[in-house]
Formats: sequence, structure tokens, C-alpha cells
Amino acid sequence: MQIHSKAVHAGDRKKLGRHIPTSTPIYTASSYVYDSMEQLDRIFAQEEAGPCYARYDNPSAAALEELVTSLENGHGALACSSGMGAIHMAVLAALTDRRKSVVAANATYGATVSLLMKVLEPMGVAVRFADVCDLDALRTAVAEAKPGCIVMETVSNPLLRVGQIDRIAEIAREAGAALVVDNTFATPLLCRPLEMGANFSVHSVTKYLAGHGDVLGGIVVSDREHYEGLRALSRVVGPVLGPFECYLTMRGIKTFALRMERQCANACRVANWLASHPRVERVYFTGDPAHPDAATIRRVFPANLYGAMVSFEVRDAGRDEIFRLMDNLKMIVRGTSLGDVHTMVLYPSMSSHREISPKHRARMGIQDGLLRLSVGIEAVEDIIADLQQALGNQP
Ligand SMILES: Cc1ncc(COP(=O)(O)O)c(C=O)c1O
Repeated sequence: MQIHSKAVHAGDRKKLGRHIPTSTPIYTASSYVYDSMEQLDRIFAQEEAGPCYARYDNPSAAALEELVTSLENGHGALACSSGMGAIHMAVLAALTDRRKSVVAANATYGATVSLLMKVLEPMGVAVRFADVCDLDALRTAVAEAKPGCIVMETVSNPLLRVGQIDRIAEIAREAGAALVVDNTFATPLLCRPLEMGANFSVHSVTKYLAGHGDVLGGIVVSDREHYEGLRALSRVVGPVLGPFECYLTMRGIKTFALRMERQCANACRVANWLASHPRVERVYFTGDPAHPDAATIRRVFPANLYGAMVSFEVRDAGRDEIFRLMDNLKMIVRGTSLGDVHTMVLYPSMSSHREISPKHRARMGIQDGLLRLSVGIEAVEDIIADLQQALGNQP
């Protein structure tokens, strides 16, 4: 070969030797070479396992998908380029061959509300919201809307309500609807929705699973019934996660259970401390014995693991006081995410629920003085000290 051809081909496309790398390589190839055209034909026909094109499958993504499928005890998974991409794919897969109608929990992440109201509804999908923590209200909404799909979060964002997934799954099944559960806040350490009858468990892996604030990604874990449909949709919609992000997510997941245990323990301490602070009007925390869903939480979550999100209302505070308080923080990060190793504070009215009208926000119970804290793995004394000085500096 001449030098120009050598530059293109030499050293590339070697078969792996007998030895297996201890961690999954980052497979950047968009396509593969085969022993013969017959073999490629069998792979396209799904008669032989193997990747054919990176939009269809990629070994780095396949490894991540197998990992999260195993954590969630599902049938299979699809790694997506964001949590919103994953929610969109789950809803599309759920609505294939079903009525184009969704009943969604009235407390969810703002972009999920926007996806339903600003994207799917204008395309002809009927959308209705219901309180999934009130099973009678949900039954009424389902009887009236006859949905093809129910969408909810295990722990709602940002007011941390917890619905009874097993009972909601029954309601969905009886109505012929699929149940999509966004399990981002709970993680599979606390809850595995497919074990309770959900059809899809979705994650923004951006959050606890990847855990270090350096990945944007999502994943849909599916039951057996919907898996092939989900993959077929993905092949034409093309929402897949890149191999480098798959690698980072797998690396993050190796410590997710350890991080989560520490974050949950820290969150308990922080929530208790906040509850006794004179400037704090109200604390929302899933470990609070007076939580409106305490019985469900005891039934659904393992002992002493309540999640690591704490929301709280600052007494008589509006946007200006909240901005001042947040600006006073020294260690806690002001950001628009959650689930990272670092403690992070977010102002829902301005951030996660910004796109929602103030009227809709008020209906959801999101006040102007509400803050959402994602508690990290730092020494809890440092987290509390930072909150103390920031709240103390308030006029
Ligand atoms: C509960 C929940 N689900 C989904 C998402 C969307 O995830 P992503 O930002 O990875 O698209 C978020 C983002 O904050 C979230 O909080």
C-alpha cells in the first residue's frame, strides 16, 4: 500500500485477542466489518447477534444497557442521549398500538410537562394530569381519559410525593394502558418499578447513576412486552447515547449504591436540621414520619433509605430573598441538576419548572420561596454549616 492508503488502514480493525479487557472499551466505530456478506445479512436479520451500525447498537451502549437492565431487573434497555430523550422514547413506545392519550402525574419535572403539553398534545395526543397519590382521583381520570399510557415519577419533582406504583400499575393494566415511571430520584437502590408492574422505568443518568456532573444521558429499561418495539423505534428515531458517555456512565454506576447510601444518610441529617431552623417554613423530605405518603414509603423503599432530595420553603421569601440566600452559599453548588457527588441547590420556579406558567406552578404547589436541595457525599457538618451561614445572613 502507498502511504496515503497505509495512513487510512494500517493498525485498524484488528480482532481482539483471547484476552478480555477488565473494563468495557469505548467503541467509537460507527460500523463494523464481517467475515462475509452472508454474515452481515444474518446480523441485519437479527438471526445472529452482533452490531451493524451505531444507531442500531454499539458495544459500549450494549454494556451500559445490560448493566442498568440488571440493576432494574428489567428485560432490556435503551441508552439515550438525555433523560428527556429517554422519557420521550418510553412514551412513544408505550403509545404504539394504543390510544393516543396520556394521563400524567400532576407533579413531575417541568420538561416532562412541556414534552406532553407542547410537543405531544399539539401532535394529537390527549394529555390530562391527575394526582397519582390519590388512587380514586387517578381511577376517575383514567376512566374519563382512557389513556394509552400513564406517566409518573417514583419520587415527584420537586415536592417529593411517592405514589403506590404497584396499585397504579394495576389501574393501568385494567385500563389497557402502559405505565412509564421516571425512577431518576429514587434510583434502583430504593425502588425498581418493573418489579411492581410498571412497563418502563426511565432514568436521567445525568443524575445519580452517572453521579459526577460530567454526563448528559438517559436510559429506558423495558419489560419483555415492549422491548422489541422500543428498539425498533430507536432505530428510526435515533436518540442513542454516544460511546464516551456510555463509558462515563458505567464508570459512575460502579459507585452509585455507595454514593446513594451516603447521600441518603446526609439528607436525613440535613432535613432534620432544616426543620428546626426558624427561617424555614416547611421541609419536604421522604424520610419525614409525617410525610403524606409515609405508609407507601415504608412499604416501597428499603429501611433507612429515603432518597437524598430535600426541598424546603423559606419563610416569607420571594425571588429576591431566595437569590440572596443562594448567592450566600460558599460550598453548596448553585446549579440546575441533582444527584451529583456535590450538594447542589436549585430554585424550581426559575429553573426546573421555569417553562411552566405561574398558575400551573401554583396548582402544583411550587411556591416562590421553595428551594430544592440535592444532598451530596460531603461531610454533613460542612453542608449544614454552609446552609446555616447562608440562612443566617438573611435580613
Ligand atoms: C426527574 C427528572 N427526570 C428527567 C430529567 C431530564 O433529564 P436530562 O436533563 O438528562 O434530559 C430530569 C432533569 O432534571 C429530572 O429531574
